[in-house]
Formats: sequence, structure tokens, C-alpha cells
Amino acid sequence: MSFPISRPRRLRKTHALREMVAETVLSVNDLMYPIFVVHGKGIKREISAMPDQYHWSIDMLDELISSIVDKDIKSIMIFGVPSIKDDVASENYDENGIVQQAIKKVKLLAPDLVVATDICLCGYTPHGHCGILDCNEYVDNDDTLVILQKTAVSHAIAGADIVAPSSMTDGMVLAMRQALDIAKFETVSIMSYSVKYASAFYGPFRDACNSSPKGDRKAYQMDYRNKKEAILEAMLDVEEGADFIMVKPALSYLDIINELSHKINLPIVAYHVSGEYSMIKIAAKNGLINEKDITLEVLTSMKRAGAKIILTYSALNVAQWLR
Ligand code: PBG
Repeated sequence: MSFPISRPRRLRKTHALREMVAETVLSVNDLMYPIFVVHGKGIKREISAMPDQYHWSIDMLDELISSIVDKDIKSIMIFGVPSIKDDVASENYDENGIVQQAIKKVKLLAPDLVVATDICLCGYTPHGHCGILDCNEYVDNDDTLVILQKTAVSHAIAGADIVAPSSMTDGMVLAMRQALDIAKFETVSIMSYSVKYASAFYGPFRDACNSSPKGDRKAYQMDYRNKKEAILEAMLDVEEGADFIMVKPALSYLDIINELSHKINLPIVAYHVSGEYSMIKIAAKNGLINEKDITLEVLTSMKRAGAKIILTYSALNVAQWLR
């Protein structure tokens, strides 16, 4: 018999060897944690579709923020559940809106925590679409831009470090950049949800935000059959002045993350979305899989594909496991 010439197994022999040659390392610095804030007092209420994730009222944020800071997580993304929904999504840019209140509270509690805010209209309008509807119930692109601009400036005034437009409105990055610069917020960054697919993986989040649309979002979110279009979307956002490029969802779109990581010289953000999270949680709770092992495998695959930052509901657990 002939012996193998090359034996890749040699470098897998011991734990120490495996650590030495590991090509991809997940770090707590890569994690961004999404949080949901609601009006009211004394609320820490589990979101039924997302085990271990909660709605928090502002007065309860101390507990949450200290657990984030204690775990050395560097950033959060704030999602607001407004008290009023109207056709112009007015709570979005209300200086006393739920997100504005949350930003101020978080900045008081943890001035160094990087605060990003999701900016969209779907949770703030009665129809649940990500923009202003025209008389034909079609999302009017340019009317929507005006709301995004007002909201970005209002979040910046409250103290946000990063604004993250997620409405898939054409020109949203440029519009926000201009509005922020005119208002002298040239150091506030834009994390664009550049490549956001019309996905069935957002179901649990829409429960959490009560933002299910009438119909679907296919007239503005991307078709999952398309990859070239993802590159176009990301390139446009680069030209418009984005600081981070996000791909969403993550796990079924690792090819997109990988392609963009080669083509674009900005940090790529992978959004490990609610459906991806809840599938793991619920399977783990039923004893089918090991939550820790599978979560680390999944998140590491996103980094291996080329993401630098991972927006994930598992961030608190992952930070603990990485210690
Ligand atoms: C708002 C928004 C959504 C998500 C993030 N921002 C919902 C949607 O587009 O329907 C989904 C996040 C998740 O599923 O975790 N447009």
C-alpha cells in the first residue's frame, strides 16, 4: 500500500494545534445586539415568537444595558415600538418618540456603547409598509426619503452614533447623508441595510414590532433569486456615502456576503435575523440541537464568508460563551 503524501489531519491532532491554525475567530467586538423598546413603565416582557428576547420600557433599560456592558459588547441597534401609527410615521421623528427616549437613556447609562438605530416606517404606519403610500397603495420612494431624513436627524440630535435605514428606498443613504451633514452631524455614521431580501425569515420580528404589512414587501425588498442586483445595491450605497454595508438575512445569503466582501472596502454587516434565531432557539429548547455549538458554528460561518460585524439576538449568550 502507498502512504498519503499530505496528511491534513496532523494539524487537527490537538486542541492547541487547532487553535494555532484557526483561520476565523469570532470576537465579542464583532457583535451588535438588537433591542426592542416600548412605551410604558416597568415592562420587561418576553417576545413570544423570540424566546429570551424582551420588550423593554425605558425605565427598565438599566438592567439590560448593564448586562450588555458587563459582557463587553460594543454596540446595540435600537428598534422602537411606537404608541401611535399614522400615514406619515410621525413618531419616527418625534423628539419624544420611543427611540429618541431610548437613545438618551442609553447614552446616560453607557456613554461609550455605540448606539445604532433602525430607521424604517413599517412599525410606524397602520398599513405596515416601509414607506409613504401613494393613492395606488404603492410606496412613494421620494416622499419616503423626506421622512427618513427627518428621522435620521432626530435620532442624531438624541445622540445616536449610527443610523441604519432599512426601508430599501432608492437614494436613502444619500438623502440621509445630506440631511445629517446640513444639520452638522457629519460624524454620525450610516449603516445601510443595502441588501435586504424580501424574506420569510422576518416573521418573528414582525410579531415583535407588530409590523406585518398588508400584502408583501416585494415591490421594494429584493428578490432572493438575484445576486447581481445585490452588488448594484451595495455599490450604490458606497457611492452615496454609506459607512457600513449590511446583508440581511445572513445564513441563506453567505454567497452574497462573500462576494461583497471581495468587492467592497467597507465593513460588511451580517444580520442574523429573527427567523434564523428562533429556529435555533426552538429546536434547542426541544432538545434537537445544542444551542451553543450551533450558534457559534452559524456565526463563525458568517465571519468566514466575509462579514466583520454580526447583528444577532444571540449576542449576550455568545459574549458569555466566548469568555
Ligand atoms: C424594518 C426591519 C425589519 C427587520 C429589521 N428591520 C422587518 C422587515 O423588513 O419586515 C427584520 C429583522 C429580523 O427579522 O430580525 N424594515
